[in-house]
Amino acid sequence: MTDRKATLSVGNKSIELPMYSGTVGPDVIDVRGLVQEGVFTYDPGFVSTAACESAITYIDGANGVLLHRGYPIDQLAEQSDFLEVCYLLLNGELPSEEENKRFHDTIKNHTMLHDQMRNFFNGFRRDAHPMAIMCGVVGALSAFYHDQMDVSDPKQREITGHRLIAKMPTIAAWCYKYSVGQPFMYPRNDLSYAENFLHMMFGTPCEDYKPNPVLAKAMDKIFILHADHEQNASTSTVRLAGSTGANPYACIASGIAALWGPAHGGANEAVLDMLAEIGDESNIETFIAKAKDKDDPFRLMGFGHRVYKNFDPRAKVMAETAHEVLSELGLENDPLLKIAQRLEKIALEDEYFVERQLYPNVDFYSGIILKAIGIPTSMFTVIFAMSRTIGWFSHWNEMVSGANRIGRPRQLYTGSPKRDYRKK
Ligand code: CMC
Repeated sequence: MTDRKATLSVGNKSIELPMYSGTVGPDVIDVRGLVQEGVFTYDPGFVSTAACESAITYIDGANGVLLHRGYPIDQLAEQSDFLEVCYLLLNGELPSEEENKRFHDTIKNHTMLHDQMRNFFNGFRRDAHPMAIMCGVVGALSAFYHDQMDVSDPKQREITGHRLIAKMPTIAAWCYKYSVGQPFMYPRNDLSYAENFLHMMFGTPCEDYKPNPVLAKAMDKIFILHADHEQNASTSTVRLAGSTGANPYACIASGIAALWGPAHGGANEAVLDMLAEIGDESNIETFIAKAKDKDDPFRLMGFGHRVYKNFDPRAKVMAETAHEVLSELGLENDPLLKIAQRLEKIALEDEYFVERQLYPNVDFYSGIILKAIGIPTSMFTVIFAMSRTIGWFSHWNEMVSGANRIGRPRQLYTGSPKRDYRKK
């Protein structure tokens, strides 16, 4: 709460609106009372609207700041691991050594899928996009835990969170295995979270798979950097779905669907498609010109961000990790990666991009790393979804454990006024 009030003049009427302050960040004006005055606020794309109160993640886009529960993302990426970040997002505080160990053990106890879930995979076409499979399979989890989905019970919510964190890598890796016709690999609980994912992706029953520690570390960083991002499109979708009392698996499935779009999580896949389309360094100028042409819908994928107008702090960490991975794999001269590096340099210097503050975002570099590790592009958004599940779940959990009202936006109606029915 602040003592400040905003005053809005509507015609000759003056309306006083309460204002609230967060711990950091802009104050908000409470417009809820406006409906009684017969006016709505209008904010397509929610550029100036705080849709909820939240204590999970803070972003200062102008200064390239991203904090989870107060901790800067670069410190978490360097000093923590993904499961510890999951604990932090869920519980609000970093775990003690004992709590951390217990949490790791708990997650390991939930990594297997119900054996009947294999049948779900078998129902899909082999060439189905793995995001389509993931949407369906995650939604289907609700059919397996229907007696443990009371959203008003904190214990059931906690177990659901653990299940989702633990099972997402298994689901993600099985989406891939199904598409290439290889046997599903079961999780191995002697491996770390990231190692286990690589094992289920690249291992086969024919020989032992030894995860490369540099690649496992890079994977873990990708998970951390995608874990949460405040009220983005997919998280807002999860909140909106959850506000109706829908079960958490259905809500997470709705988040996966929203993430799929190329303007959101689909961007890392689109980056690689774009690099392939450019094909050769000599074509870069043509594509830069296309991106700048207002009559051409083409955009440089992996550049720009709704919130970050200085730099994306996640992209900084990802750029360093990309260099580590490329040098570990001896891929510094890969032609596609050469195009990426050249594109990055040109765009960072070009007036159009500088003026509009269009910097490489996290997806530009994560796509490069995933490709170098050998992960097919169709799996990129799946990996994003698997990492973001903890963010979605934490927001859903925060919402349903507090006072929650069904989300119901209003509109500026521009259709026909009332008219009488007449056959044409
Ligand atoms: N290439 C060329 N021009 C661009 C680009 C781009 N990637 N992004 C924005 N612009 C231009 C846009 O045409 C507009 O120009 P003007 O002012 O002359 O009309 C100006 O920059 C502002 O763009 P906007 O569309 O108003 O910005 P937005 O905040 O609505 O969109 C965005 C943000 C991320 C959707 C957009 O930058 C974009 O489409 N980027 C490419 C897709 C991408 O990489 N998305 C991943 C985002 S990071 C992962 C995540 O959080 O999901």
